[in-house]
Amino acid sequence: MGHLGVLWLFILVKWVFLSSLVCCKKPDVVNIGAIFTFNSVIGRAAKLAMETAVDDVNANPGIMNGTKLRLIMQDANCSVFLGSTEAFQIIEKEVAAIIGPQSSAIAHMISVIANGLQVPLVSFAATDPTLSSLQFPYFVRTTQSDSYQMAAMADLIEFYGWKEIIAIFIDDDYGRNGISALGDQLVKKMAKISHKLPLPVGFGQNDIIDLLNKSKFLSPRVYVVHVNLDPRLRIFTIANKLQMMTSNYVWLATDWLSTTLDSFSTMNHISFHVLQGVVGLRQHIPESNKKKDFVSRWRKLQQKGLASSAVNSYGFFAYDTVWAVAHSIDKFIRDGNNFTFSFSDKLVDKKSIEMQLNTLKVFDNGDVLLKKLLQTNFSGLSGQVYFSSDQNIASGDYDVINIDGMAVRTVGYWSNQSGFSVLPPEVLKMGQNNFSSAEQKLQEVTWPGGNTERPRGWEIASNERPLRIVVPYRVSFVEFVTKVHDSHKIQGYCIEVFTEAKKLVPYYVPYRFELFGDGQSNPNYYQLVKMVSNDVFDAAVGDIAIVKDRTKIVDFSQPYIGTGLVIVAPINNAKSSAWVFLQPFTVQMWGVTASAFVVIAVVIWILEHRVNDAFRGPPKRQLITMFL
Ligand SMILES: *[C@@H]1O[C@H](CO)[C@@H](O)[C@H](O)[C@H]1NC(C)=O
Ligand SMILES: *[C@@H]1O[C@H](CO)[C@@H](O)[C@H](O)[C@H]1NC(C)=O
Ligand SMILES: *[C@@H]1O[C@H](CO)[C@@H](O)[C@H](O)[C@H]1NC(C)=O
Ligand SMILES: *[C@@H]1O[C@H](CO)[C@@H](O)[C@H](O)[C@H]1NC(C)=O
Ligand SMILES: *[C@@H]1O[C@H](CO)[C@@H](O)[C@H](O)[C@H]1NC(C)=O
Ligand SMILES: *[C@@H]1O[C@H](CO)[C@@H](O)[C@H](O)[C@H]1NC(C)=O
Ligand SMILES: *[C@@H]1O[C@H](CO)[C@@H](O)[C@H](O)[C@H]1NC(C)=O
Repeated sequence: MGHLGVLWLFILVKWVFLSSLVCCKKPDVVNIGAIFTFNSVIGRAAKLAMETAVDDVNANPGIMNGTKLRLIMQDANCSVFLGSTEAFQIIEKEVAAIIGPQSSAIAHMISVIANGLQVPLVSFAATDPTLSSLQFPYFVRTTQSDSYQMAAMADLIEFYGWKEIIAIFIDDDYGRNGISALGDQLVKKMAKISHKLPLPVGFGQNDIIDLLNKSKFLSPRVYVVHVNLDPRLRIFTIANKLQMMTSNYVWLATDWLSTTLDSFSTMNHISFHVLQGVVGLRQHIPESNKKKDFVSRWRKLQQKGLASSAVNSYGFFAYDTVWAVAHSIDKFIRDGNNFTFSFSDKLVDKKSIEMQLNTLKVFDNGDVLLKKLLQTNFSGLSGQVYFSSDQNIASGDYDVINIDGMAVRTVGYWSNQSGFSVLPPEVLKMGQNNFSSAEQKLQEVTWPGGNTERPRGWEIASNERPLRIVVPYRVSFVEFVTKVHDSHKIQGYCIEVFTEAKKLVPYYVPYRFELFGDGQSNPNYYQLVKMVSNDVFDAAVGDIAIVKDRTKIVDFSQPYIGTGLVIVAPINNAKSSAWVFLQPFTVQMWGVTASAFVVIAVVIWILEHRVNDAFRGPPKRQLITMFL
């Protein structure tokens, strides 16, 4: 009995002793670093948001009880070089994690350093899709990768049925990689970026004028603008001056625009008129009491003159980032881990000694803190904060905004699961679980020029070469088509049908007839069709029979005469079949034509871009039927 009592006592004493040891090892202060550009739209909001978050964490006894969080901030001032040297300075202060940077180029550089020294790098604004967790295991992102945003943008382009777009972007990691992600997403939608127009980093007025002026001669009229935040909205101001914010132009902007607009104070709304008709994306932040409280708190700071701009999405992300780091440090300490930094063998090779890297210490338990960070799951200002397996924040929905008059209107929402909807994704998710039945819908958009009708999105460019239309040079049955003897005039029944049908096309189509054949004997029609499919010609007009082999390589119009006279153009989708000519007709229509004995309808298939350069980006297929 007595022995047992002693044992209990012993265990109790030992436990008290141990727990007091763990308790006393608890650090008084934990340092975290932050590198970003103070004097920027994101930086101004982020600085105040992070300071507020640190105050809130330190005032909350429920988290990091007894340990203070200290934030060491450095101004990268948009310079990769400065940002990297500052990363070293910050790491020398033995930080548990680094927050930032907002610039993707600096993030690339610092990720390498953070990786070597096992310090988690948590970015709330570097959206470059090539910053991957595979390459940089210590890189964690509390915002979405741009590959996600570009999926939304590609969906938007598909939603409105445009096939080719012009991309205007800033020529750095963020711009190039973002646009490359957009290209990948568009390919999945059978659309493409037909022109990539880069602006130099630090571009000026003249760069924009040159670039926009040049783009006026291109055929697509759908622009996607992916640049850095620009409070002066220079691109749109100049586009207005160049008469490029008029009807039939489409301007789409990634979330740089919404972030810029959200940061404007109310006075600035005056400049909204240059944005008339622009459609953009904004990171969706669900409404919550937390968010409302924070916004009203921010307003008070603004009134006191402590906040120089309104809060934008990145302000919310920055605030949540500090909390995510604090939560992970809290768990790290609770588990009895120590913050120790030591010189590492890894850094003691010749090269690092030369570069004096061996003075840097490695965060011994960095991997443990990283693991805790990735297990984060709390409800923050920007919604539920937790990470997906690629170490980006898991939620990632977008608002679709439209600038109409003096207001920014939210016309709908996009989420990866449900696509476009007029209800916020969190409402959709609550209400029903079958997203497939959810209809793709957006509210009415006002486009540039004030129209609400979807712009066509392309134009026959003035310097575009005309359509090359091949015509068989027949020597027999010349009534169908042939060259007039001793002149360059081409005539015949087929040509008349073509000219009449062309009149029904509601826009100008430049074209040129080219004869095929030597005028001695009738040309080989198989070769003729082959040349259309090989892109020697864009289309053919003539008495070309629809036979199975030919339908595999070109698309035919409706037959317009019983013998099978047709206009052909190259095949443009895999769905074509020998029966393709049946498709445009309803059953009733077939009844009418059958009773008339001869098929006398003509259809010009104005095919999509594949047909020819002159027709860059028209809608998938337009049929104009005409009865003679
Ligand atoms: C915080 O620590 C103090 C003593 O250090 C303790 O009395 C208090 O209960 C702790 N609070 C929480 C929420 O852990
Ligand atoms: C930031 O860089 C710009 C030039 O790139 C310079 O004019 C400015 O003084 C710098 N600001 C700070 C705070 O270093
Ligand atoms: C745009 O280009 C055209 C033709 O190249 C030129 O005549 C015009 O002056 C340019 N406009 C501006 C604003 O540079
Ligand atoms: C933390 O440090 C103390 C004393 O140096 C040591 O006893 C303990 O094992 C350390 N904890 C961990 C998890 O390494
Ligand atoms: C996060 O926490 C919420 C509730 O607190 C829970 O419903 C959700 O499943 C958690 N998510 C993950 C990824 O653990
Ligand atoms: C979006 O959803 C698709 C399937 O529904 C999935 O394959 C893809 O990974 C998701 N994208 C992201 C970025 O989560
Ligand atoms: C879910 O889908 C089924 C059919 O697939 C439909 O009958 C049902 O109404 C849908 N539920 C909701 C809430 O829309």
